[in-house]
Amino acid sequence: MSLRPAPFDLSLGEAKFEPAAALRLSQRLIQVGIALSSETDLKRLLELIVAQARELTCCDGASLFLREGDELRFFVVKRNEELRDLRLPLSPSSIVGYVVLTGESLNLPDVYQLPPNLPYAFNPQVDRQTGYRTRSLLTVPLRDPSGNILGALQLLNRLRPDRPAELAPNQVAEWSQPFSELEVQVAEALASQAAVAYQNVRLREELKSAHLETIFCLAQAAEYRDQDTAFHLKRMSHYSRIIAQELGLCSHEQELIFYASPLHDVGKIGIPDAILHKPGPLTPEERQIMNRHPEIGYEILSKSDSELMQKSALIALTHHEKFDGSGYPRGLKGEEIPLEGRIVALADVFDALASRRPYKAAWDLDEIFRFVESNSGSHFDPQVVAAFKCGRSEILEIYHRYQEPR
Ligand code: C2E
Ligand code: SIN
Ligand code: SIN
Ligand code: FE
Repeated sequence: MSLRPAPFDLSLGEAKFEPAAALRLSQRLIQVGIALSSETDLKRLLELIVAQARELTCCDGASLFLREGDELRFFVVKRNEELRDLRLPLSPSSIVGYVVLTGESLNLPDVYQLPPNLPYAFNPQVDRQTGYRTRSLLTVPLRDPSGNILGALQLLNRLRPDRPAELAPNQVAEWSQPFSELEVQVAEALASQAAVAYQNVRLREELKSAHLETIFCLAQAAEYRDQDTAFHLKRMSHYSRIIAQELGLCSHEQELIFYASPLHDVGKIGIPDAILHKPGPLTPEERQIMNRHPEIGYEILSKSDSELMQKSALIALTHHEKFDGSGYPRGLKGEEIPLEGRIVALADVFDALASRRPYKAAWDLDEIFRFVESNSGSHFDPQVVAAFKCGRSEILEIYHRYQEPR
């Protein structure tokens, strides 16, 4: 994705408007629309919008403002800078606040020459801090198809086509010219595509977090326990993802394991309370009943065709298998155990040992790391143990972040 100025110049085209240029432009907008609609990662989506807006309008910088309650979250790209994530109160007295609140585009040829008694004013603070000089400024609303305004796209300093190839920050204003009416339309078209794309990404993220909440509630209900279970599930799903990442699995696999792993014990819903909540050691008969939970979980989860549920079912079935073949329910050995099962086995036991249970006290961390090490190759896959050790600092960070309130 290039941040360089576009190979064609729109403002030239407007006076003697060429059909070929118009065709190139509409093809370009369609391509951008397709790229935007297939982007699922929010940060990359924002970068894409900003970069395309700069390129299509030949301007020096662009910022994207997203409405979040009474605030505007705000991403600026000036020249070669990275995206920065800032916040601003949403007020009609700023240019961008005015655009977001009224839905009107503002095309200002020179922000330092605004007539007095406008409802909005330019805030020169950022220019003062950075030594940059803003001159022409185009701000258009991000409007979704139902007319909601999700934020604004702001383009800074439309550059003259005859400018030198390299401009120092303090030279930019000199080579700045007003945005043309065509560029306003291009920016508005891009902004409405961006609004749809942004809304899709947000919806997808909301769906995923709703899904995760559902999983935690369901899994917690299965064990009928208090908050402890919810925290255990949060931690072990993070540990599982960290291990998957250290093993070099692709981001899709990492995400699947993250969402599938918290369901590993749903089969405990089929275990009588007297056994599940027994404060002491289990008798051999009770233990036999308890050891049915992987298969019960598999029965429950394998009914769905979804990739995620299939993964959950497999994890539920295999999370108590051991690398040397001494686990249950099948006594699978080594790589007969699916990798997800080997990963979750370690994540689950690590966290079970670190937690208090009705039948045992919490162990301290050094003791647990020694236990993991000494069971590498017997209970746990040595490769999974190695990945776990590589992720140690990230794992400890999660361990401390999700602790039950005492
Ligand atoms: P859990 O409490 O979530 O424990 C998961 C796994 O962590 C256990 O699988 C075991 O591999 C490991 N683990 C937990 N505590 C200890 C421990 O004190 N020492 C060692 N060496 N490993 C430990 P496992 O053994 O297959 O147990 C599966 C589930 O069965 C447990 O899940 C728990 O719900 C239940 N359970 C196991 N032992 C007892 C017990 O003595 N009393 C009761 N009431 N339940 C038990
Ligand atoms: C860039 O190199 O991306 C910046 C060029 C410009 O500011 O016009
Ligand atoms: C404004 O919209 O008021 C200016 C924000 C900026 O400095 O880019
Ligand atoms: Fe289990």
